[in-house]
Amino acid sequence: MKDIRVGIVGATGYTALEAARILVAHPHARVVAATSRGETGKSIAEIHPSLAGRCDVRIDTFDADKIAGQCDVAMCCLPHGASAETVHQLVTRGLRVIDFSADFRLSNVELYEKWYDVEHPWPERVGSTAYGMPEFFADQIRDADVVANPGCYPSSAILPLAPLVKEGLIETDDIIIDSKSGVSGAGRSAKVATLYCETNESIAAYSVGVHRHQPEINDLVHRISGTPVATLFTPHLTPMDRGILSTIYVRSRSTARKVMDCWRHCFADAAFVTVVEHLPATKHVAGTNFVQMTARDCDHRIVLICAIDNLAKGASGAAVQNMNVMFGLDDKTGLV
Ligand SMILES: NC(=O)c1ccc[n+]([C@@H]2O[C@H](COP(=O)([O-])OP(=O)(O)OC[C@H]3O[C@@H](n4cnc5c(N)ncnc54)[C@H](OP(=O)(O)O)[C@@H]3O)[C@@H](O)[C@H]2O)c1
Repeated sequence: MKDIRVGIVGATGYTALEAARILVAHPHARVVAATSRGETGKSIAEIHPSLAGRCDVRIDTFDADKIAGQCDVAMCCLPHGASAETVHQLVTRGLRVIDFSADFRLSNVELYEKWYDVEHPWPERVGSTAYGMPEFFADQIRDADVVANPGCYPSSAILPLAPLVKEGLIETDDIIIDSKSGVSGAGRSAKVATLYCETNESIAAYSVGVHRHQPEINDLVHRISGTPVATLFTPHLTPMDRGILSTIYVRSRSTARKVMDCWRHCFADAAFVTVVEHLPATKHVAGTNFVQMTARDCDHRIVLICAIDNLAKGASGAAVQNMNVMFGLDDKTGLV
């Protein structure tokens, strides 16, 4: 087969770097275009020195006609709002797009506008876009023009929770999700909250009860299981570059053993979900597209623990997995 030609829109950020890093080693895909608002003329490797000698694609300003003419698929690594407008321009020119932002993840535009506090630039596509989690939506992803790549925290919560809710193994009105993320989850642009002196040797909660990933978790668990859920989600910033550990407290209708059996059954064909007996750590999955999850009985609750890499299964690894599904490849291609 011919190589899949990939354009990276928003090439100067962290998810773009991770996407390029994976794609340079992919046997059937190559990066052929990259864009930025301010770094035109430089190569991707000048912006991301770890790619030196591996990716010399020149960065250009965004031109929808040019990207659509050069590429088979675009990975749109932009912030929400800006992303939807860009995705619209590319899709109307016939290009398939994997959108890293939250713009097309939710089921309805009211939910999006309530939580993101912006008017959606392409509201008619909200709710009819494939959610980029092949473990549950491979059939929709295969033929999709736009794939809404999942959020990082949501990936670490939806994967363990959805099968358990679907099988009625846990109470749905009392789910506490306590998540810790590395600092790359906040993106590469300069912000006081992610400065070295703010994050080093320190862990802090943020956006308690109001984080935008809470509605995404609830919405997708509902969509997958058919049952509405109420979660309380508290994210924490931790002094690591990358990784997410979610510790999820559920009220039990079952046992940890039955939870793990349920996962093993649900994910029997899922290449990247590993149900483990040990307590997963972010180091066990760092730099990989793998998810590790386990469960423990604790009195009247079961504690679920899930580790992912926010930049891999939480973003760019998932995007490459989605690209593989969209183009008829084995979803592990270039990722193991
Ligand atoms: N970081 C993660 O772990 C993670 C995980 C899952 C999903 N995501 C999502 O993935 C997307 C990219 O995240 P990231 O962490 O890579 O962000 P980032 O490091 O901040 O990079 C964002 C990119 O978007 C460009 N950009 C910023 N504002 C823009 C605007 N108004 N219009 C056009 N381009 C703009 C920037 O490029 P120039 O300034 O050079 O133009 C930069 O290349 C976001 O939607 C984020 O929520 C991130």
